[in-house]
Amino acid sequence: MYWNAIIASAILGQTASAQNMLRFGCSQLTIERVDPLVTPGQAPSPHTHQIIGGNSFNLTMEPGKYDPAAKSTCTSCTYSEDFSNYWTAALYFKSPENGTYQRVPQYANLGIQQNGGMTVYYMPYSAKNNKMTAFKPGFRMIAGDPMSKKNNRVSICHRCLGNGEGFAPCDSKDTGELPTKYCPKGIRATVIFPSCWDGVNVDSPDHKSHVAYSNSGGLGTPNCPSTHPVSIPQVMYEIMWDTGRYKNDAWYGNGKQPFVYSFGDKVGYGQHGDYLFGWKDDSLQKAMDALPTGKCANANCQVLKIQSAQQAQKCTKAQQVVEDVGKDGAWIKELPGGVQVME
Ligand SMILES: *[C@@H]1O[C@H](CO)[C@@H](O)[C@H](O)[C@H]1NC(C)=O
Ligand SMILES: *[C@@H]1O[C@H](CO)[C@@H](O)[C@H](O)[C@H]1NC(C)=O
Repeated sequence: MYWNAIIASAILGQTASAQNMLRFGCSQLTIERVDPLVTPGQAPSPHTHQIIGGNSFNLTMEPGKYDPAAKSTCTSCTYSEDFSNYWTAALYFKSPENGTYQRVPQYANLGIQQNGGMTVYYMPYSAKNNKMTAFKPGFRMIAGDPMSKKNNRVSICHRCLGNGEGFAPCDSKDTGELPTKYCPKGIRATVIFPSCWDGVNVDSPDHKSHVAYSNSGGLGTPNCPSTHPVSIPQVMYEIMWDTGRYKNDAWYGNGKQPFVYSFGDKVGYGQHGDYLFGWKDDSLQKAMDALPTGKCANANCQVLKIQSAQQAQKCTKAQQVVEDVGKDGAWIKELPGGVQVME
């Protein structure tokens, strides 16, 4: 279901006309314990990530020095000028019977052909007069917080698919926590990033304070705070976890469910996403400028170069930190890195 046009008009109300967005798939680039944003240079990083985008993804990607568009030779995303990297934690099934783990695979979102990976959105909800400023080279940010013990459903949420789901991302039918019932069609995890920028810094020590939400964490409005006055595209990730394959009534209910994020969080409040900008030249700005013209929408933005799903799927990268993070349904005895499940 394409909720975008409808929700855009509902959110923008009378203030502006409904506007298109980008919505496209990116296949899996790699899955490993590397994190150039939070623990640059550290091999391995504390927990496993699933990563998509440009193949210049590396242990260290210093802003201003390491240009993904120049260093990459391919991207796993639909738009072949997008060498950004996007990543989140991986999700594991922990067998309630014997305590071993299996990495939960991702499946393709509705209408998208992809192999693992996620769906990426660039949305216009904070655009004033249809204008947005695309990210500058070196830009990066984080949404969510692995240490969080608080429900932040409006930006970090889970949808139990096949169970009378909601409509807009992170709406009141979604939950901040991982669903505690069986979800026949899997679980969709959503990460919504801020849509306002301070206009100066491409990063900040916590990778967050240079950006801000215009709407208490949720989908944006054209009201960026004065501290962060510049409207940027609102980035959103959707990860389709194929949890439907884990069907057993005994594993769910009464507050329990069998899944745990790679950093040991079985509640799900600590789900988080990392974004590292890497679009070639001014391609993202051109796309954002074209959204109101009707020539640019979803995975068919006519001012951008588009590659086939087959080409995107060919762009993969060998692990730099070589270890078994749960390959193709293999069972592993512990979470990679010996991460303990938080009780
Ligand atoms: C990634 O980093 C390593 C050093 O850690 C470097 O040797 C390599 O060239 C980098 N990859 C790219 C694509 O620049
Ligand atoms: C552990 O339990 C799961 C089901 O919960 C089963 O599929 C798997 O084969 C079991 N592994 C071992 C080593 O018994």
